Amino acid sequence: MCGIVGYNGKNKAIDILLSGLSKLEYRGYDSAGVAVVDNEIDVIKSKGKIINLKEKIKDLDLFGTTGIGHTRWATHGEPSENNAHPHISNDGTVTLVHNGIIENYQELTEKLKKHGYTFYSQTDTEVLANIIDYYYKKYKMGPIDAINRTMVRVRGSYACAVIFKDYPDEIWVARKDSPLIIGTSKDGTYLASDVPAILEYTKNVYYIDNLEAACLKKDKVIFYDLNGDVIEKELKTIEWDISSSEKEGYEHFMIKEIHEQPDVIKKTINNYVSNNIIDFAKTNLTEDILKDIDQIYIVACGSAYHVGVCEQYIIEDLTRVPVRLDVASEFRYKHPILSKNELVIIVSQSGETADSLAALREAKELGAKTLAVVNVVGSSIAREADYVLYTLAGPEIAVATTKAFSTQLIVLYLFAIELAKTKGTIDDKKYKELITEMECIPDKVQSILDNEINNIQKISSEFASAKDAFYIGRGLDYAISLEGSLKLKEISYIHSEAYAAGELKHGTISLIEDNTLVVGVVTQEDIYEKTISNLVEVKSRGGYIITVSSDNIPIDKVSNYKITIPETNKYFYPSLTVIPLQLLGYYIAVSRGLDVDKPRNLAKSVTVE
Ligand code: AGP
Repeated sequence: MCGIVGYNGKNKAIDILLSGLSKLEYRGYDSAGVAVVDNEIDVIKSKGKIINLKEKIKDLDLFGTTGIGHTRWATHGEPSENNAHPHISNDGTVTLVHNGIIENYQELTEKLKKHGYTFYSQTDTEVLANIIDYYYKKYKMGPIDAINRTMVRVRGSYACAVIFKDYPDEIWVARKDSPLIIGTSKDGTYLASDVPAILEYTKNVYYIDNLEAACLKKDKVIFYDLNGDVIEKELKTIEWDISSSEKEGYEHFMIKEIHEQPDVIKKTINNYVSNNIIDFAKTNLTEDILKDIDQIYIVACGSAYHVGVCEQYIIEDLTRVPVRLDVASEFRYKHPILSKNELVIIVSQSGETADSLAALREAKELGAKTLAVVNVVGSSIAREADYVLYTLAGPEIAVATTKAFSTQLIVLYLFAIELAKTKGTIDDKKYKELITEMECIPDKVQSILDNEINNIQKISSEFASAKDAFYIGRGLDYAISLEGSLKLKEISYIHSEAYAAGELKHGTISLIEDNTLVVGVVTQEDIYEKTISNLVEVKSRGGYIITVSSDNIPIDKVSNYKITIPETNKYFYPSLTVIPLQLLGYYIAVSRGLDVDKPRNLAKSVTVE
């Protein structure tokens, strides 16, 4: 899942390309490159992060006002300058950047070799450049014809930007499944994989649908369908502002986004609640629709899946509607059995995760209603779902999600409460009580940030050299332990696992030895004693215990390091316990001197299978 950017206008393209690529670097940082049209098409590429490309470019005179750029997350061919984008067709007729995967690239390679094409890289993208070149030369019907014939011929996912040598003042784009937005301003036209890359220049954007193309001229954009006919697109305005994609004095985007949680949680609640009443009118998720739901299936990936694990406990307990769960990469191929009144909920920050998008399509195919809980407005999952509940976390730049996770919890709490009222499993008093307590969450999160950060920083420095870690809890505490464990793993590279506390003695406790780091999450009043006994078992085998619990839990005797959070309603503890778990992961990774915002081998939005 790479990042692509492009500009065609009055100004020097290189500055806009480099600033856009810096904003897209969370999508992949294995290599980077640009192509700028001046008298000829100058292509500069480098291995590694954007900083290396900037170093290569700093002494070059690139005055061209048309250009495209790319930052790579390697799929086909190892990270290298040779495999870096832009890729060029054999004789330079076509230069392009691409985000996605061409699944039938080997078959196309053989076809093109029969027509005398040769290949310098291991990438599927170089094949894309040459197949466009092939159709361009074979039919001589111009760029849109070559691009449309290519879209019919290739299989896979792509958002690509193409410069034809014969049309140096135009940039052509096409997409299928990979994200792409097109922007316009008085200074020109822009393209990007994601909003932050062009937010500095414009908030006016177009979204093109699958198998559509467009030509970006210096002063306008022309859109085409697969028949090559010109089509109209609606101009949309982005709500987000540029500051949200800046660090604003914080060392990392992750810690900035952790501190933004009280605000974005409040914004998300206020978006759906007024005068203690939940209102989903904006989303067409009416009472009639809720009333008919007899089963729910939550499907997602990574942290978004962990939101599902938490919400399964809450929705079932509040509404008595059965909830099934699956990771999207399994759901999409298991031929799920869905009932007529089943609601499939897809949770996704980016709204572009390939497995989650495919799971959505599969659920629709099987006749289920689909609800998307998404953070990015206009993303594919949002546009294709029957109903959408947006989270208002704003742009999330750090690869490790934090604020989006917290707002996803809130949106599904609201969904559970509204469904429970509709199903009559809670009365008005309980309904209002839950909403009132939920509206206290932002302040309680703020108090954790105010009161516990120094304590957590101190604890984290103790575990900078940990080799393994185990997160345990029961019920909702187990569910949130999954997220705590992932946060540590993905940014500190420490092996970590989360376990239902009662499960440990069925095998895994054999891994506990002196000084093994064990994080115990203990908040659920009806079962906390059970979890404490499990922590005692672990401690007696030498485990070093960090506990995350509320004041009402008698934890002192088992805890080596205690982190305290405010009390709240049993359903809402994940919103409070996740904060110290995010901070633990963050400060342990920082104390290991790691690039927290861009962890190795990861990318923010996984748009390939
Ligand atoms: C979490 O920190 C990771 N970035 C990853 O697990 C993420 O949650 C997963 O890839 C799903 O992404 P999505 O929410 O954008 O669909």
